Amino acid sequence: MIGDYRVLIADDEPGVRQLLTEVLESTFNVESVERGDIVLNKIHEGQYDILILDLELPGLNGIEILKTIHEKKMKITVVVVTASNNIETAITTMKLGAYDYIVKPFDTEKLLVIMKNIAEKLDLEREVDTLREQVGEKYRFSNVIGKSPAMQRIFATLERVIDTDSTILISGESGTGKEVIARAIHYNSNRRQYPFRSIDCSTIPQDLIGSELFGHEKGAFTGAVSRKIGKFEVTSKGTLFLDEISNLSIDMQAKLLRVLQEKEFERIGGNQIIKVNTRIIAATNKDLRELVRQSRFREDLYYRLNVVPIYLPRLRDRKEDIPLFIDHFLKKYNAEYGRQVSIDIKARIYLTNYNWPGNVRQLENVIKRLVLLSSGKVADLEQVKMILEFEGEHRIATNIASQEFNFPSEGRILSLEEMEKAYLERVLEDCNYNISLTAKVLKISRKTMHNKLKKYGILIRKTTNASY
Ligand SMILES: Nc1ncnc2c1ncn2[C@@H]1O[C@H](COP(=O)(O)OP(=O)(O)OP(=O)(O)O)[C@@H](O)[C@H]1O
Ligand SMILES: [Mg+2]
Repeated sequence: MIGDYRVLIADDEPGVRQLLTEVLESTFNVESVERGDIVLNKIHEGQYDILILDLELPGLNGIEILKTIHEKKMKITVVVVTASNNIETAITTMKLGAYDYIVKPFDTEKLLVIMKNIAEKLDLEREVDTLREQVGEKYRFSNVIGKSPAMQRIFATLERVIDTDSTILISGESGTGKEVIARAIHYNSNRRQYPFRSIDCSTIPQDLIGSELFGHEKGAFTGAVSRKIGKFEVTSKGTLFLDEISNLSIDMQAKLLRVLQEKEFERIGGNQIIKVNTRIIAATNKDLRELVRQSRFREDLYYRLNVVPIYLPRLRDRKEDIPLFIDHFLKKYNAEYGRQVSIDIKARIYLTNYNWPGNVRQLENVIKRLVLLSSGKVADLEQVKMILEFEGEHRIATNIASQEFNFPSEGRILSLEEMEKAYLERVLEDCNYNISLTAKVLKISRKTMHNKLKKYGILIRKTTNASY
């Protein structure tokens, strides 16, 4: 039985990435990157099981990546891909702990055999882990942190519905742990031996979502060169996590509703009816009820999804959990980077009372940076404050960079000033209306900032959580 493993493909050739994705995605959860310097970050962030690594990568070359993985004893199985059939390279990569080695242009059959062997090896490891867990741990959700009353209530609700087929809607701000909960539900449920897949409705273009979800037949549209099995079919006995569901177009909402009601669908361009028993977990960081009110989300779909509502509170509303998170992430990153950093009491109190606009993800990033950057063994309040400031700016900058700027233009071209005003308002909002921070992020002086606010007549609302 092949488990549900996550594969990261690192290759700079788009053709190779596409080919590998197509070959592997019906069996594995596949993601790909093109630059070497983001591979290690990706591995740190997401828990990938297998890395398919091209040796000639821009940014950071494959051998360096392999060395780091080897030295840090990272838990990932690596298959090396290279254009040169050079015996020395082969020996080097094997010495550095690569599982196997494949030469370009490669034979997809051979790759599939390698991948199947890896999956079997991982299945076995996972079985051993599960046995260990059963012996040592009685409780479900033991990997999800939360002793606060709010989290305990969530665990109690999940305990009641976990082995049913009920649809679950998880809502909560960004970084509160929606995906963590979704995975925990699947891996603690009686569906655990079947696949878990996720689809992020905010990053996949809407015209591709249909074929991601339902698959397509060969020739269904230009570019459909072969049959594709969609995620509903792959998770027929497992769990499908629909992340950021509010981004689904009205058209896709109707199609999704039909599958939820009838438990069947056809692949795009096909006429064979496919029956599935997929469990749906949806997540949103927006208020879906409000979107229903604005007619941007179908009411009937909302009720179909919201059978079991789980609301994840903001981190600052469950302060009891903060010390647990601090210790958990300290342990994690100390182990990962071979450090022994701890945090003094004043700094801990400060962290516990901080307002965490980026929730658990922000806390995790702060602890990770602290472990990496701490010069001594005990980090103090000064260091913590410095990291918080740096992290706050960084988080806002990446938020802004990842947003699509849909400014209201009423069908005409905006003037530069109108753009500037809209952009300023957007960044201000992201900075919790903190003027110094906004000026810093925008790389202008406070004086220029004040002049612009005056010029555009922007009034600053005071918010309770402006605490950078
Ligand atoms: N209860 C928890 N126990 C352990 N780790 C957690 C918990 N909640 C969140 N995390 C950690 O915090 C980070 C963010 O969690 P996650 O990705 O699930 O958030 P999210 O709500 O899906 O955020 P977004 O809306 O931005 O996608 C992850 O690295 C995760 O490991
Ligand atoms: Mg998420």
